[in-house]
Amino acid sequence: MIPQPTAQQALPDETFTLPSDATIGLDDPSAQPIADRFAAQLRTSTGFALPVQEGAGTITLSTSGPDSLGAEGYELRADASGVSITAYTAEGLFRGVTTLRQLLPAKADADSAQDGPWEIAGTTISDSPRYGYRGMMLDVSRHFFTVDQVKRVIDLISLYKVNRLHLHLSDDQGWRIQVDSWPNLTVYGGSKQVGGADGGSYSKAEYAELVQYAADRYITVVPEIDTPGHTNAALASYPELNKGDQAPDLYTETEVGFSSFAIDKDVTYEFLDDVFREVAEQTPGELLHLGGDEAHSTPHSEYLAFVPKAAELVVKHGKRVMGWHEIADGPLPAGTVVQYWGTEDPKAQVLAQKAVEQGATLVLSPANRAYLDMKYDANTELGLDWAGLISVEQSYNWNPATLVPDVPASAIDGVEAPLWTETVDDVSKIEYLVFPRLPGIAELGWSAESALDWSAYRERLAEQGPRWEVLGVNFYRAPEIDWRQELRTRSSSQAVVSSTSCSATVCWCATSLSGASRTSSR
Ligand code: ACM
Repeated sequence: MIPQPTAQQALPDETFTLPSDATIGLDDPSAQPIADRFAAQLRTSTGFALPVQEGAGTITLSTSGPDSLGAEGYELRADASGVSITAYTAEGLFRGVTTLRQLLPAKADADSAQDGPWEIAGTTISDSPRYGYRGMMLDVSRHFFTVDQVKRVIDLISLYKVNRLHLHLSDDQGWRIQVDSWPNLTVYGGSKQVGGADGGSYSKAEYAELVQYAADRYITVVPEIDTPGHTNAALASYPELNKGDQAPDLYTETEVGFSSFAIDKDVTYEFLDDVFREVAEQTPGELLHLGGDEAHSTPHSEYLAFVPKAAELVVKHGKRVMGWHEIADGPLPAGTVVQYWGTEDPKAQVLAQKAVEQGATLVLSPANRAYLDMKYDANTELGLDWAGLISVEQSYNWNPATLVPDVPASAIDGVEAPLWTETVDDVSKIEYLVFPRLPGIAELGWSAESALDWSAYRERLAEQGPRWEVLGVNFYRAPEIDWRQELRTRSSSQAVVSSTSCSATVCWCATSLSGASRTSSR
C-alpha cells in the first residue's frame, strides 16, 4: 500500500470476498458521487450489478466517525462479513475508498471484465495524513496538455492521495488560460510551445471542467501565473507591458531568466489586477501562485518593489499568496505559502527561513529530490539534469521535517513534486517521469515519519507495478525495484523511444537540452 497508512493490523482468520450480489451502502448523500464512481469501476471489472443504496451494504461508507479523524482521516475494516469505511467527511471517505482500491486485486481497476475471486485479506486500518498539502505541479506552458490529458494525470495522482494540482499556466513559451480582459494572451501568447509547434490554451469552460474534475477527486487546483520573469508570452502579446513598448517575438526555446515585466509602469499592475481577478474567479481553492522565480532580468531592487504590489493584488481578489522561495526576500502578506525549490543551497535555505520568520508556511519541492523532470540516471532519454540525477531512492529518502534547517515542524504545510515539461510533450512521457517517483513524494506527504523506510518502501512500490500495467501507465522500470519478472523484462526506455508520439520536437529537446543551459542561468 502507498502511502503507508498510519496504523494497519491484519485480521489473520478473516478474508473478505466480494460476492456477486454485493451492494454499496452509504449514510450521507454527499458520499453518493464517491460511491457511484467506485461502483462504476467495479461493475466494469467484476461484471457485478453493485447497486448503491442508502444504509448498510456489503461495502458501507459512513460519515458517522468522530471529528478527531479530521477532514481526510478514515477507518477501514475488511472482514468476512463486509467492508466498512468510516470518516468524518466525504473527503475522508474518498481517501478510504482510495485505500480500498489498493486492497483489492489490481485487476479491479481494469477497463474490461475480469475473473474473480475478489478477495481482501482481513484488516483494520486507521489513517490520516501527516501534512495537509500533498501536491504535484504540471507545467502546461512549455508544452500544452489538453483537458483530457490533464484528467488522466488527475486520475493517476489521486490514487496516491495527492490533494493539490498546481498548474503552471504561464511562462515564456506560452499563456494557457483565457483572460477575457486581455484576450491576446491566449490568442497569440498561447499559440506556440517549445520546439515551435502549435500550442493551445484552456477556455474558461475547459478550465472550469478541469477544476471540477479535480475537485470530484478531492484535488484542489492551484493556478500559477508566473511573474515578473518567465513572462515572454505575455510581453509578446501586449507591447505596453514591456519597458520600451516593444513586444518581443514569441519564444519556443528553453532558456530561462531573460524576460521581465516593466516594474515601474502602472499598466503592469492594471494587467495583473485583471488577470488575478479572472483567475481567482475560477479558483475555488484558497491559493493563487504568483511565481516569482528566476527573475534574473528584473533588477533586484525592482523585484523587491514588485512582489508586495503583486501580492496585494492576489489578496485583493480573496486569495492567499503562494510563490517560489525567492519572494521571501521582501515582505509577505499574512497567510503566504512559500514553495521551496532549493537543493542544499544555503541562500535558498536562508530565504525559506526568512519566509517562516515572517509567519509564512512552506511547501517543499527540493529540486534534487522532488523535481520529476530530472533524469533518473545518465541514460534516461527524457528530462533534464541541472539539479542532479534523481533515482527512485533519492526522490524518496528525505525528511520534510528536517530538509530546511532551523524551521519548526509547524511551518511545513507539505510537499509538492513539480513536472516541468521542456522535454515532455505527451502523456506517456509524463507517466514515464512521474511513475514511479510521484508515489514516494505522496507518501512523504501522507505517512507518519516513523513509517518512512526505503527498504520497506521499495517492496511496497514493487507491488504497484501490476496496478500500473492494468491502468496502462508507461512507468519507468527502475532497476532499484524488484519488479515482477514480466514487468522487468519489458524495457520502458524502449517504450519511450518506440512511442509513436516521440515527435521530432521532443527528440530535439532530449538531445539538445543537456541541462547545462538551465544550470548556467540559475
Ligand atoms: C523553478 O524551478 N524555477 C521554480
